[in-house]
Amino acid sequence: MHPSDTVFSPSFGNRPSYLVGRDDMLDQLMRGLTSAPGSRDRAVVLLGQRGSGKTVLLWELADRMRRQNFVVATPTIVSESMLERIAEKIVDDAGTAAKGKAHVSGGSLGALGFSAGLQFQHDAPEPPSIQHRLTQLCRALTKQGRGVLILVDELQASNPEVRQLIITYQELVGEGLNVAIVLAGLPGAVSATLNDKVLTFLNRARKVPLEPLAFGDVDAFLARSFRQIGLAIDPDLRRRASSFTEGSPYLLQLVGHNTVQYAQPDGEVTEDTLEDALRTSQEDFENDVCRTTLAALSEKDIEFLDALAAESGEEGEGATAAIAERMGVTHDYAQKYRKRLIDAGIVQASGRGRVAMAVPHLADHLRRQAQE
Ligand SMILES: Nc1ncnc2c1ncn2[C@@H]1O[C@H](COP(=O)(O)OP(=O)(O)OP(=O)(O)O)[C@@H](O)[C@H]1O
Ligand SMILES: [Mg+2]
Repeated sequence: MHPSDTVFSPSFGNRPSYLVGRDDMLDQLMRGLTSAPGSRDRAVVLLGQRGSGKTVLLWELADRMRRQNFVVATPTIVSESMLERIAEKIVDDAGTAAKGKAHVSGGSLGALGFSAGLQFQHDAPEPPSIQHRLTQLCRALTKQGRGVLILVDELQASNPEVRQLIITYQELVGEGLNVAIVLAGLPGAVSATLNDKVLTFLNRARKVPLEPLAFGDVDAFLARSFRQIGLAIDPDLRRRASSFTEGSPYLLQLVGHNTVQYAQPDGEVTEDTLEDALRTSQEDFENDVCRTTLAALSEKDIEFLDALAAESGEEGEGATAAIAERMGVTHDYAQKYRKRLIDAGIVQASGRGRVAMAVPHLADHLRRQAQE
């Protein structure tokens, strides 16, 4: 029987069956988030390209922080009435946790007192503002010795709701309340022209880039998973699959999934079936990541990337001077775009006056498009 895929799930926002290569990062984040209230390490901005695992990390932090006695507002996407959503989630999570506790301790008074602390006065003439409600919630929970963690996904730093949230958060911190916040977004989300308050806050917050997964972690995970699924693959072929992922979690899921799909009926992975699997994975990745990444850029940004793709080999790396020449612009002008694209996390500096693609297979994608 053809082995079926019980491990891989290439789909955005999906919790992976196994979280590869993020242990150290999570330990460090946890230490910061559970440090003394008011500590700078309690405000974190996670920055990473599409498919780098931001959403998955937020959910993982939610689980781990709950175990540290934190009430968690699970990831809220930046949107209208985001603060209301956050307040609702805090009430929900606090209620669930309290019920669990009451059950364990046989309906303790603490649990009842706890829920009473979250009641709002209904006879008040004006409904309290959302900021006020959030403050009351955090006060009540802090009094009970519990923390509050707010998680925000798909950060757009210039959004008015984000500004409101950050102002509120700073007030909570000012009161000495037991709160922490993690915001996740694309690297470009934070470099946009920002309002002072948000900018100052984000600059002070701990900025954590989501680095590509280490080759060793990826390869060990694939080896384990293929064995578990019942695939037979030559170690050299497996290493080729591992390096093809370039450390992108989403590409890793695609490669794993397609390797299983294309394997021979008896579970053997041959050079040919692997080639097919990698080609399909690359197509999916180009559609889901490369295309959406390019869609957010200006024409000139893309011209720069086209020139880099044409200039560079497999590695997608080249000299800024050569790119300027290809673009027919001055070095200073090309330099400006180099900086913009570095801020957006699409390229990275690679030695003096040189630049490299930071998105896997983007150079390939652009070269192929140029030929069409
Ligand atoms: N550490 C990891 N190990 C294994 N798989 C992972 C890991 N992180 C993420 N994934 C998988 O990669 C894919 C993308 O993850 P996720 O949706 O969290 O990315 P993202 O950074 O939030 O992307 P986007 O910017 O598009 O929202 C999912 O299929 C997820 O299961
Ligand atoms: Mg996401």
